Amino acid sequence: MSIPRQGALYHTALLRGCIDIAIIDACRSYAQAGILIAVLCRCARLKGASVLHQATPLHSDRFQTVSAMIEARNLHKVFGAFHAVRGVTLDVAPGEVVALLGPNGAGKTTTVRMLGAILRPSDGYARVAGYDVVEQAREVRRVVGLLTEFPGLYLRMRPQEYLCFFGALQGMSASDSARRAEQLLRQFGLWEARDKRLDSFSKGMKQKIALIRALIHDPPVLYLDEPTTAMDPHSARQVRDAMLELRAAKRTILLTTHNLTEAEELADRIAIIRNGSIVAEGTFAQLTRQFLGAPRWELRLGTSAHRAAAALDGLVQIERIDHESIYYHTDDARHINPQIVARLSDAGIPVVALNELPRRLEDVYLEIVAGNERASAASPAARPARRDGAPVSGETATLRVEG
Ligand SMILES: Nc1ncnc2c1ncn2[C@@H]1O[C@H](COP(=O)(O)OP(=O)(O)OP(=O)(O)O)[C@@H](O)[C@H]1O
Ligand SMILES: [Mg+2]
Repeated sequence: MSIPRQGALYHTALLRGCIDIAIIDACRSYAQAGILIAVLCRCARLKGASVLHQATPLHSDRFQTVSAMIEARNLHKVFGAFHAVRGVTLDVAPGEVVALLGPNGAGKTTTVRMLGAILRPSDGYARVAGYDVVEQAREVRRVVGLLTEFPGLYLRMRPQEYLCFFGALQGMSASDSARRAEQLLRQFGLWEARDKRLDSFSKGMKQKIALIRALIHDPPVLYLDEPTTAMDPHSARQVRDAMLELRAAKRTILLTTHNLTEAEELADRIAIIRNGSIVAEGTFAQLTRQFLGAPRWELRLGTSAHRAAAALDGLVQIERIDHESIYYHTDDARHINPQIVARLSDAGIPVVALNELPRRLEDVYLEIVAGNERASAASPAARPARRDGAPVSGETATLRVEG
């Protein structure tokens, strides 16, 4: 497909969405907006001018057949002269939860927006449930539930009419979306507030409505961009529990968060992005092993640790001695630890405790990001660049899309 045609299709779809949104913003209710959109469509004879009337059926059997529910290949995004995303390649399997972590401005939201067919990639391609994010943007938006970082809500609406409106955009019947909206409003503790307008909602309540909006059509794929940022601890727990339920229900989730405990609890796999490139990827255990080394142990003694250290000479590589404690790494605790205890016992040194020290995602993350910064500072050439070494294309450059 030629570039101008892709651009025209993309911008037409965008324009249609914008017209709908502008009408809804101008109206006092969904009912008014719906009538106005229907009248405009009829007058202009614009077949399918509104996504409201364009609900094409999706083939859910394809979700079982794709090997990667999200497939991104060498994605780039250039804003003017600024290269925000530099060759992101990422696969997310059906039913997998992947946390995309990284410092502020690393390119997480930009990547998510490209994968959600909200932003056109400058280069590279991505498919979601087998649908191409550029050529099949509408299908992508149907299979994805997107919680954006700054969700724009239609503040004059009340929760149910707002959610039913989005249900209608996703091709749901009025009764199905009303039932689903009630179920989700109850689940997230907003049912009591159903008669209030959204402009009277607190920041966290609005965030929950945006999350419910993403869930309304029960999509197989969810992009949750900082879902618990504005929430109090109880609400954040509700949202994390909902994510655990979605994970159990085999939904595919791409989660962006700065809450590393949350990522550790929810994610099957972690990808760390810095300066627009993925710099590390794997399970928590793999990343921990790779960046923090073998498991770390603390040996606590009932006496000064220096005598014990001498007794352990040649058995383990001691990392640190601190008063009555010795710290060391070993991959082979099953064999090494009994020998340590035996040697100390032979030397008459009492062992008070022997513990494996828990390692947190925060330690791994800081090590990766700090290590990557050190490497970049030492060698500017090591800064992320396109993997194929080709010159980076700009916003108007050729868009490579595989059919
Ligand atoms: N529309 C835009 N025009 C120009 N620059 C943009 C645009 N959107 C994002 N950027 C820039 O791209 C970079 C990546 O932004 P992005 O929002 O993806 O970061 P992020 O990783 O989500 O950060 P945060 O953790 O703060 O949410 C930033 O430097 C941002 O200023
Ligand atoms: Mg962001």
